[in-house]
Amino acid sequence: PATPASLLVIFGASGDLAQRMLLPSLYGLQHAALLPAGLRILGTARSEYEVAAFRDLVADAVRRNVPAADVDPASLDALLARLDYQAADSSDAASMQRLGERVTALRNGDVLYHLSTAPRFYGPICDALGAMGLAGPGTRVMLEKPIGHDLASAIEINDGVARVFDEDRVFRTDHYLGKEGVQNLIALRFGNAMFEPLWNARHIQQVQITVAETVGVEGRGDYYDTSGATRDMLQNHLLQLLCLTAMEPPARFEPTAVRNEKIKVLRSLRRIGRNEVQAETVAGQYTSGAVGAKVVPGYIDELGHPSRTETFVALRAHIDNWRWSGVPFYLRTGKRMARRSTEIHLQLKSVPHSIFDPGAHIAPNALTIRLQPDERIELRVMSKTPGLDRAGMRLSEVELDLDMHEEFADSTRRPAYERLYMDALEGNGTLFVRRDETEAAWEWVDAILDGWRAADVRPRPYPAGTWGPASAIAMTERHGHTWRE
Ligand code: BG6
Repeated sequence: PATPASLLVIFGASGDLAQRMLLPSLYGLQHAALLPAGLRILGTARSEYEVAAFRDLVADAVRRNVPAADVDPASLDALLARLDYQAADSSDAASMQRLGERVTALRNGDVLYHLSTAPRFYGPICDALGAMGLAGPGTRVMLEKPIGHDLASAIEINDGVARVFDEDRVFRTDHYLGKEGVQNLIALRFGNAMFEPLWNARHIQQVQITVAETVGVEGRGDYYDTSGATRDMLQNHLLQLLCLTAMEPPARFEPTAVRNEKIKVLRSLRRIGRNEVQAETVAGQYTSGAVGAKVVPGYIDELGHPSRTETFVALRAHIDNWRWSGVPFYLRTGKRMARRSTEIHLQLKSVPHSIFDPGAHIAPNALTIRLQPDERIELRVMSKTPGLDRAGMRLSEVELDLDMHEEFADSTRRPAYERLYMDALEGNGTLFVRRDETEAAWEWVDAILDGWRAADVRPRPYPAGTWGPASAIAMTERHGHTWRE
């Protein structure tokens, strides 16, 4: 069994992700006294920094990314006191040797290596650690996305890591799994008896999973343009949400049991390939428009050159198993959409028979789990419209609405990376993605991308600040369904 890490080594420690998310989360854990006692943190990247300069960089990153009221000077000092820095370049054996010497000097038990570099360096870094004898039992590795840009490259990266680290010591992050609302989906499904009996094709008409963002590509155009919404969001975050929504109850909330259930969902996904992409998927790309009150340029203007990369994808998926046979799962994600909104929406079937007037409106029940920007659980039910109605009872839709922020006003919401770091430092992989999941997700996504290439599908334009191309709406309407807005 793993013991808490004595040393965390962050590769890419001065990078953008480190500054925006990783270092502020380590600060949060420090402040909450949740870092393992005696933990040392060794930053590494190609640039040379004196330790003092690296500590300044970290202090600065924390001050820029943590709300001022939460920055406690004593906690920040305590974090800085844990830090060291050693420059290293994975293609230069001598510099890796020096890094190895620092690791040996600083470790006092388990080590967690966190690779937050370009994924092509994962293999070489692991090889170097292995060659120095620094990747044996008691060491773990945490990997950032993207794990590849298709199945073949994902296998290559995973093979490179597997040469050195056994799978149970590999922690692939999907930061959506670190979000409170996503974990609450598990609590809601398996901590209550009332949902599970309805959670299947007999009672559910359709499921919608939406991850809508209002941001554009935010200066990450170089990466984003080689990726697009399908690789950047669908392959990982949306499919993880789909897995947690659709999986069978795991016997326990522990890594193997949970991940065994998720992989079954991915393997049951009906393939959407060359013959299906036209009917079942829509790719979009934003043009200029207004998001809220702000006028923003189109994707191509932001990028500065023509591009066929999709900034929006919507599709109709099916999970071919007993539980979900025939239930469409509509998935969509896009940048520069009308509102930031991440939610899972399950619409139940209509009542089998209405006892009310033929004209009475009876909307089907629906459960919506909202994850962002606010966390809430809404249950749509029908209720009597109050009043004396001679013509017969009138019904209205009402929402049972649970606002998690209000309900837990005294608890602080922790950023996703705090949860992920805490778990990886302690060696708990439940909220991390296993190799077979990543590869099954790529296999499914590859078929869609291949279908688009074969059919020469170009993304359809949609004005920034809208819900995507009209054809995404038409796709659901064809099947008698409507996106929730
Ligand atoms: C990242 C993507 O994985 O997730 C980004 O690369 C995206 O493009 C981000 O903006 C969304 O995360 P969140 O936590 O803001 O929903």
